[in-house]
Amino acid sequence: MSLDSCYSIADLRKRAKRRLPSPMFHYIDGGADDEWTLRRNSMAFDEYQLVPRCLVDVSSIHMSRRVLGCDLQLPFFLAPTGMNRLFHHDKELAAVRAAEKFGALYSLSTLATTSLEDVATAAPACNRMFQIYIHKDRELTREFVQRCKSAGYNALCLTVDTPVLGNREREKLYGLSMPPRVNRHNIFSYATSFHYMWNLLRQPDFRLANVVHRVDALNGGHMALFEYVNKQFDRSVTWADVAWLIEEWDGPFAIKGLSSVADAKRAVEVGASAVMLSNHGGRQLDFSPAPLDTLPAIRDAVGDALELIVDGGIRRGTDILKALALGADACSLGRPYLYGLAAAGQAGVEKALSLLRDELERDMSILGCPSLEALEREHVCRIVPPANQSIHAR
Ligand code: GLV
Repeated sequence: MSLDSCYSIADLRKRAKRRLPSPMFHYIDGGADDEWTLRRNSMAFDEYQLVPRCLVDVSSIHMSRRVLGCDLQLPFFLAPTGMNRLFHHDKELAAVRAAEKFGALYSLSTLATTSLEDVATAAPACNRMFQIYIHKDRELTREFVQRCKSAGYNALCLTVDTPVLGNREREKLYGLSMPPRVNRHNIFSYATSFHYMWNLLRQPDFRLANVVHRVDALNGGHMALFEYVNKQFDRSVTWADVAWLIEEWDGPFAIKGLSSVADAKRAVEVGASAVMLSNHGGRQLDFSPAPLDTLPAIRDAVGDALELIVDGGIRRGTDILKALALGADACSLGRPYLYGLAAAGQAGVEKALSLLRDELERDMSILGCPSLEALEREHVCRIVPPANQSIHAR
């Protein structure tokens, strides 16, 4: 399957599956425990229909949005995702360069395999957000704030749903490690991933580039991600730390990983600019709610006091429209661009972004919405599932 014959994010996923050794594919694709939340994230979108308004002038469509102090050409952006070197040798650089071309916001993970400075140099015109985890080594957090200021990052985002890593059984089953390590369960899939193996041998740099100078981890040795997170992340983080970090940063600040009205209200109180409604792509607490399910009540509770970003389960332009109509300011996406990255590096990320942009533009035209401001809750209508249709099926 060539990139040209990928017509949807689902097609990019198929291509990624063919090109990646199984540990890496399942690291992207999998979730926690029974993966109920992973499935629910997408299913939540299926419970809404879109209701078009006809005879509206849609001769020009405007998709731009101001979020986190950035003027963006698209109302969706690249979520922070860890360890991109596992998926393609051009790693985070491929993704940020694609984002720059599309006028999209790029978020860089603390657990990236490219330093925040190298990302800034590679795409100086791109709006960039750095995603922070609070490590036990608090000096590292202070250092990140200073480095992000010096490198001209536009926004900071603190992930709060990962005091410990979720139970991702596919990682154990397929033997994920950083750097990759062949074992008897995955040897066949490594041996048949020719492109991947070639580039693995040519560019075997799998360091966590942002933390490697302070944390003696993944620097030559092998380590499971859960071991890193469980050893290095500070589990005692509370709202007081969030308030402290907001003050240190003194700029657009998002809290990523909230699901409740109560927490969203606390986010307003501590002075956050935005909340990313997220369950970490179903990778942390199974049976936590889908972001789309939490959105209407949280929007009603916080009004305009916070920007709300929906993250999880988005695969189509129509999904983005549904989230925006229900009150989101923007959406963020992880797996869709990672499938593209694994499928074809920068060209694959561009493909993912162009598919979603084109779908969104076409969908807005047919829905009768020439601009995002014209979108209203009345454009969506919830389908009540029949009583015998269990969403708990495993
Ligand atoms: C890292 O944040 C992950 O979800 O693997």
